Amino acid sequence: MSARLDWIARRGTPLRGRIAVPGDKSVSHRAVMLGAVAEGITTVRGFLEGEDTRATAAVMRQLGVHIETPREGERLIYGVGLRGLRPASAPLDCGNAGTGMRLLAGLFAGHGLDCTLVGDASLSQRPMRRVVDPLRAMGARIDTRPDGTPPLRIHGGHPLRAIAYETPVASAQVKSALLLAGLYAEGTTEVREPHPTRDYTERMLAAFGWPVEFAPGIARVLGGHRLRGTEIRVPGDFSSAAFFMVAASVVPGSELVLTGVGVNPRRTGLLAALRAMGADIRESNPRESGGEPVADLTIRHAPLRGIEVPEDLVPDMIDEFPALFVAAALAEGTTVVRGAAELRVKESDRLAGMSAALRALGAEIEETPDGARIVGGRLHGGEVDSHGDHRLAMSLAIAAQCSEGEVLIRDCANVATSFPGFDALARGVGVAVGESGIGNRESGPEGM
Ligand code: S3P
Repeated sequence: MSARLDWIARRGTPLRGRIAVPGDKSVSHRAVMLGAVAEGITTVRGFLEGEDTRATAAVMRQLGVHIETPREGERLIYGVGLRGLRPASAPLDCGNAGTGMRLLAGLFAGHGLDCTLVGDASLSQRPMRRVVDPLRAMGARIDTRPDGTPPLRIHGGHPLRAIAYETPVASAQVKSALLLAGLYAEGTTEVREPHPTRDYTERMLAAFGWPVEFAPGIARVLGGHRLRGTEIRVPGDFSSAAFFMVAASVVPGSELVLTGVGVNPRRTGLLAALRAMGADIRESNPRESGGEPVADLTIRHAPLRGIEVPEDLVPDMIDEFPALFVAAALAEGTTVVRGAAELRVKESDRLAGMSAALRALGAEIEETPDGARIVGGRLHGGEVDSHGDHRLAMSLAIAAQCSEGEVLIRDCANVATSFPGFDALARGVGVAVGESGIGNRESGPEGM
């Protein structure tokens, strides 16, 4: 686990410049997983050098997959074929990554391996029945703790049969776990979802040459084919771009360009929500990179007003609510979020964590079971806790850019799970954020 780290953030300068955010986390996880069980070599460019995605690569190495790092952000994966993973005696550590653990559970369920998936303190408290129950219905044998949390002990040697499954929650992780298990199952595995979720697993299976049928809200794979090694280009992570989109929107005088951001429609709900609030965000240079839509985003400061966030946008912006809460706390009027109870079972309870933190900075927020009512206004400085949640830490650093005093943000080390180097990149465009603590002052806001 990473060492404890606190940040100090305060008002910086208007955000200016042109930056690229790191590679997409969801795509990077999937590239390593499919590359590992493909036949032949897979090249991944733009790989996210985050702790989460590196943990997935380390798990595959532990199972006998040779993975080279020719340079930062690049991987060469020597695939071992669908059934070529070798058993490991030690537990497989997924770190902080729910995506890693849930997708690997699906991939390993029918492989024939005995293995145990473990995670850090946060991951060890996250619900796994959502994937384990349908995998058991396919014939897998997987043990959890009595309350359905990790470790996940997967018993090999249980052949899988395909099922048709309707997911009770809109979850790309659940859908993906079942599709990956479906590679090893006899027959056609079908997943239907209450609202379409990100379709990276489906698109990437197709890129690796596996026959897969999908449309928004439904996906099908037929067992018994092969994956062929390929080249994957990972787009910039929209969820990492989100912090800069909000920051440049709320800080007067800002004009910031984010290049090469993945704009798959299943990820860009925040763009729609911010635009409805009055944000000035333009897309230019639209292109395709590795089968994914990518664009440059130019964000100019604009006054924001509160909105009722349409419930059908929620799955398309599920990771962006901490950033949206900051925009809402600084907007004019009231923002209402509903239908977002899933936020309670992310890396932390994000409804509780963001409500408490923004309230500590003076915002008026009423937390509800599935959302919040946020009244925009002014923020003052103070001390807040990110609860070890990367997205809370980065969102609160953005809130500090419009706060009247300094903000001390506790427990920020996990930013490295999804966005290593966030603070340095942010300082480069005018955000005042840095490590707190004696001896670290030169890397703090004072050093700008
Ligand atoms: C992800 C799906 C989402 C998201 C997570 C990444 C994925 O989770 O919150 O950060 O890569 O499939 P759910 O599908 O559980 O909502």
